[in-house]
Amino acid sequence: MAVTIQDTHVQQLSDRVAVITGAGRGIGRACAELLVGEGASVLINDVDDAPAEEALAACEAIRPGAAAIFVGSVTKRQDTDAMMRAAVARFGKLDILVNNAGISRDKVVHQMSDEAWDLVIDVNLKGTFNCIRSAAPYLRDPAKAELERDGRVRYHRKIVNFFSTAAIRGNPGQVNYAAAKMGNVGITRTIAQEWGRFCINVNAVAPGFTNTRMTQPKEAGADLGVPADQAEAMIKRIPFGRPAEPIDVARVVLFFCGPLSDFVTGQELNVSGGMQIP
Ligand SMILES: NC(=O)c1ccc[n+]([C@@H]2O[C@H](COP(=O)([O-])OP(=O)(O)OC[C@H]3O[C@@H](n4cnc5c(N)ncnc54)[C@H](O)[C@@H]3O)[C@@H](O)[C@H]2O)c1
Repeated sequence: MAVTIQDTHVQQLSDRVAVITGAGRGIGRACAELLVGEGASVLINDVDDAPAEEALAACEAIRPGAAAIFVGSVTKRQDTDAMMRAAVARFGKLDILVNNAGISRDKVVHQMSDEAWDLVIDVNLKGTFNCIRSAAPYLRDPAKAELERDGRVRYHRKIVNFFSTAAIRGNPGQVNYAAAKMGNVGITRTIAQEWGRFCINVNAVAPGFTNTRMTQPKEAGADLGVPADQAEAMIKRIPFGRPAEPIDVARVVLFFCGPLSDFVTGQELNVSGGMQIP
């Protein structure tokens, strides 16, 4: 019988447990499905319960029993503490944290409200901090114990943070989002150094323009979305001539979650189809 690539494929994440925030939709959901397909057990977090349930059903179809959901907000420490506890209670440990949850509330600076500033900073930036701090007892402490007991860790544990090409470039109407996302670069470089000796890799991805709810055509008065003319202009700057799909970004997240990136930490990678950032 012919051997296919499928037959010989070694799952990159068998036996690993991951928490993915904001995994009910878009890129986070693609990450959940891809990681489950690669053998991981995944706790799907979202602030909205219906999309989280849909993501769970999609993961169940890939590998029954490999996923669970935790509905709660990354902006609240009680929620992120309970999220990490839930992952460990359900799957026995925690190896991977993907800080994907994000939101936008665009306005030019002189029209931006305190509420829009605070929400975007709280979800995109404080959410990353909350999750890393809440994960410390399950990511850092076991690695430290292994180091003290055996002189080495058993394997690399992983954190993947999210920032954005819009933040690197600067994007009119997104002062809150750009500030939050570049803050995640600072978090990435800092925790990579704090937890490097425990072999916890901390890297970040910057999606370019990606087809999700966040970039849907913006209706007048809507909170989310991108005006059609701006979307068109952004897509024109992508050499591949199309926006990313969530799976394009999820594959790079998988690289940072898996063993192929074990000697890479404190790094940022753009997933933008070659869009040049001036
Ligand atoms: N779509 C793009 O073009 C693009 C570009 C650059 C970066 N990003 C980043 O990629 C990540 C994923 O975004 P997406 O495009 O898939 O958007 P999306 O809106 O499709 O998904 C984001 C998910 O995060 C969830 N979420 C929002 N607030 C939350 C909270 N407080 N706690 C938990 N979950 C929360 C939402 O409910 C949603 O399901 C975000 O960090 C975003 O900033 C997206």
